[in-house]
Amino acid sequence: MLKLGVNIDHVATVREARYRGCGHGEPDPVEAARLCEQAGAHGITAHLREDRRHIQDRDVWKLREIVTTRLNLEMANSPEIIGIALRLKPDIVCIVPERRQEITTEGGLDVAGQREAIRETRQRMNEAGIEVSLFIAPDPVQVEAAASTGTQFIELHTGAFAEAWPDPAARAVEVERLRQAAELAHQAGLRVNAGHGIHYQNLRDLYRVPHLVELNIGHSIISRAVMVGLPAAVQEMLALMRDYPAGGGAA
Ligand code: PXP
Repeated sequence: MLKLGVNIDHVATVREARYRGCGHGEPDPVEAARLCEQAGAHGITAHLREDRRHIQDRDVWKLREIVTTRLNLEMANSPEIIGIALRLKPDIVCIVPERRQEITTEGGLDVAGQREAIRETRQRMNEAGIEVSLFIAPDPVQVEAAASTGTQFIELHTGAFAEAWPDPAARAVEVERLRQAAELAHQAGLRVNAGHGIHYQNLRDLYRVPHLVELNIGHSIISRAVMVGLPAAVQEMLALMRDYPAGGGAA
């Protein structure tokens, strides 16, 4: 069964728009996480950025207390955030690029350009009992590099797919890239997640990408929640995900 991790960063984005620096305020991403779990989400994702643009330190500590499914901390491979992650002990960290030089042309983490640094963080996390995922473009070079670091998961960056989606020809190209990357990663023994830009309309096209374990979805769910409420928005997404073919990758 394809799992849903809800990214709650945008709940914090709305709070920070009004209450930045106040140490409190609504809407509360922690309460949102609770509602997502109650609605059936399989995990909660939050990105503690170095610039603290949305999620704050107190959010991740409260999330660690209340999340009963899996807490996925998205993070840059930076000493400060690594230190926080090692103390926080999320179930999994997803290493994402925050600085320009860490980013491939498609926006994923340039693992091939920093294998040693990523491998070292992967090892420190694993020694602390934390699983590791790497957010990479569907690029064979990056998939191979990810496998060489010993990471447990990759998260395929679906941003290019989401951008191409309105154009059927461009969409087909991006789905094929995702399909091949997922296949390659699976053959290399990696577990495969996907995320960025996935919404209620484009999700079905990902049925053709095999071996997917979990989708991390934020913006579309939080946006839909404004209209129908968070539990309904989560349940609607889960209902669409139920049709992902067992084993994945139906033509
Ligand atoms: N996965 C990763 C690694 C991300 O950085 C993001 C965006 O914060 C997402 C998934 C979710 O993307 P979206 O908000 O577009 O669903």
